[in-house]
Amino acid sequence: MFGNSMKVLFALLASCLLFAAPILAESKFPTGRRHHFSEDRLWGFDGHEISAWIATFNLTAAATQAVETLVGPGGLPSIATWADNIKGDSKYKWASELHYVTTLDNPPTSCSFQMSRDCPRKNCVVGAVYNYTEQLTEDYNGSTKTRQEALKFLTHFVQDLHNPMHVYGKDRGGNDFPVYWYSTKTNMHSIWDSRILVRHMDDIGGDAESYLSLALHRIETEWSHEIANWLYCPRRDGSGVPLLVPTACPEFWASQANSAHCDLPDVWGGVKPNDKLGDDYYFDNRDTVMRGIAMAGLRLAAILNEIFV
Ligand SMILES: *[C@@H]1O[C@H](CO)[C@@H](O)[C@H](O)[C@H]1NC(C)=O
Ligand SMILES: *[C@@H]1O[C@H](CO)[C@@H](O)[C@H](O)[C@H]1NC(C)=O
Ligand SMILES: *[C@@H]1O[C@H](CO)[C@@H](O)[C@H](O)[C@H]1NC(C)=O
Repeated sequence: MFGNSMKVLFALLASCLLFAAPILAESKFPTGRRHHFSEDRLWGFDGHEISAWIATFNLTAAATQAVETLVGPGGLPSIATWADNIKGDSKYKWASELHYVTTLDNPPTSCSFQMSRDCPRKNCVVGAVYNYTEQLTEDYNGSTKTRQEALKFLTHFVQDLHNPMHVYGKDRGGNDFPVYWYSTKTNMHSIWDSRILVRHMDDIGGDAESYLSLALHRIETEWSHEIANWLYCPRRDGSGVPLLVPTACPEFWASQANSAHCDLPDVWGGVKPNDKLGDDYYFDNRDTVMRGIAMAGLRLAAILNEIFV
């Protein structure tokens, strides 16, 4: 559903990124709230939680209140990894295929996501974002339990949708593509789920808090001129999905994440099975990982701010 003009737009956005000079911008986050995270419980090295913190800093007062009423004072960060934690629970087996979408790719030549082809019966991460957004709206009349679970799933799946390996059609999202990370045997999925992120944290002080601070700083400075694009959603006529919450834009986000496989040469360029990836791969891709985490956070906040007024 997204033609060549969209591809060109993404390529343009990506190249703007590379040449964007950092600019100064006023703080967009309520000062004072920033200090809270260091006092909070210890939290793990997980992109989902960092993204949830970014969303938390961007929630309106009404949305903050609604989130805390639903899931408690720990808010979004406290529920961000729940959907992974229940993976072993047989009563949630049905949810395991909602973490990803199997697109049609042969990078670097062709990459594409199509809702009707790749997400039949909405049974993929894109459909899940629609599903759980809808369940949070007032018109859905969901029970408290339905709404709690919807918020937990939504928080997690918006972030999964920003990880290129969750929007990929080959090798089970990179799980079956073996590589070494430095000297450890692993696979491409794991490199993009956690290894680049953890290495980046090590580089800047060894903790998630430093990583979060850096991401927030970049949102306020070098990425500030892009935020309007991050929150932009093109018309979705033809998708057959009602525009319940216009900021919820998972089909567009899936196309963007998927295009990384073809349009960002550093993701696959020259990588062969069993290659040893290390510093070069890390330096080439760590900003892509951080941007995805930041985008997911602001996009989740936009959805919740729109629902909880
Ligand atoms: C969330 O972020 C956007 C973009 O940076 C900004 O325009 C908006 O005011 C922020 N909202 C809140 C409640 O912080
Ligand atoms: C939508 O949510 C319900 C309740 O969690 C679930 O049973 C169903 O499988 C979900 N469908 C999709 C496509 O996410
Ligand atoms: C929610 O309740 C309202 C008022 O009773 C009703 O009009 C609406 O159809 C319900 N929505 C759903 C999805 O059941």
